Amino acid sequence: MRISDNAAVGLAELGAEVRRGVSMAEQTSLGIGGTTDEILLARYETIPRVMRLLANEHVRHKFLGGGTNVLIADGELPWVMLHLPKANPGMRVEGNAAYVDASADLGGMVTFCAKHDLGGMEGLIGVPGSVGGALRMNAGAYGTQIGPHVREVELYRAAVGEIETLRGAEIRFDYRHTSFAPEDVMLRVKLELPSKPFKEILAGIKVCNEKRRASQPLNQKSAGCIFKNPAGGSAGRMIDELGLKGHRVGDAMVSDRHANFFVNAGNASCSDMLKLIDDVRDRVHTSCGVELENEVILWRN
Ligand code: EPU
Repeated sequence: MRISDNAAVGLAELGAEVRRGVSMAEQTSLGIGGTTDEILLARYETIPRVMRLLANEHVRHKFLGGGTNVLIADGELPWVMLHLPKANPGMRVEGNAAYVDASADLGGMVTFCAKHDLGGMEGLIGVPGSVGGALRMNAGAYGTQIGPHVREVELYRAAVGEIETLRGAEIRFDYRHTSFAPEDVMLRVKLELPSKPFKEILAGIKVCNEKRRASQPLNQKSAGCIFKNPAGGSAGRMIDELGLKGHRVGDAMVSDRHANFFVNAGNASCSDMLKLIDDVRDRVHTSCGVELENEVILWRN
């Protein structure tokens, strides 16, 4: 979508930068996605005014975080892509509390806190993406989830058009799901973390990194796991047991390393990836009677 010159002037007055015709394939870990104009925000505080401006100009929009858990449509996209101000470094520690910007890198946050002898998030070390994305999805790995550490979230509440702060107890964190509204935008978080010596945290991080390297296709383009695990089961094992590793539609392929990772093995389109997802879901349903639910977020036209 093209931002009108009129809207671009208003955005410039709010300190935002407009970039024209950016390929989302370059902004996502899957390397898939069409083209649109982007808006890089200057300050969190301007978000309500930017949102009002976009609404007045009838500009549809989405916020992109780290781009590591999203599958974006092909072609010219009917919305513009918004980016939060870059975290620089966007984190500080006070006692057992860590205050982190949503645009900060999740792994960077884990190591920053570790250097301040704050642990509890070792399992999240290799999860790619931003802190905001991790909050929205309640990211987790190796027995750790971000949710239980959250004490406060500052967010843009789309329903009221204002920036608000929620206490941790007001938010529900479930398996890869939270009670935030889909249009809410995570801005900053306060976490409370247990004290732990840096060396111990580092040892835990090393173990998680090794496990991840041994089981996941880290050097290929993916969005992590495509499906959520069904209650009491493993989507990866089910797909593997059907002999589907290496199964492909165009360049979209079930990883031969971990069957719940679907990789872009070349120039996969969103359409290829969606066909592969539907095909695998159907086969699992037919063979196991289980309807797998997407873990990856779909942004279609
Ligand atoms: N398995 C297979 N074949 C495969 C893949 C897995 O047999 O191709 C078996 C494994 O041997 C193991 C079981 O399935 O017995 C579970 O596999 P794994 O330990 O790799 O964990 P997972 O359940 O597939 C989950 C998360 C990952 C997270 C890991 C580690 C989901 C959907 N996935 O994977 O998160 O990194 O545990 O904690 O919850 C993600 O969110 O994108 C993601 C990758």
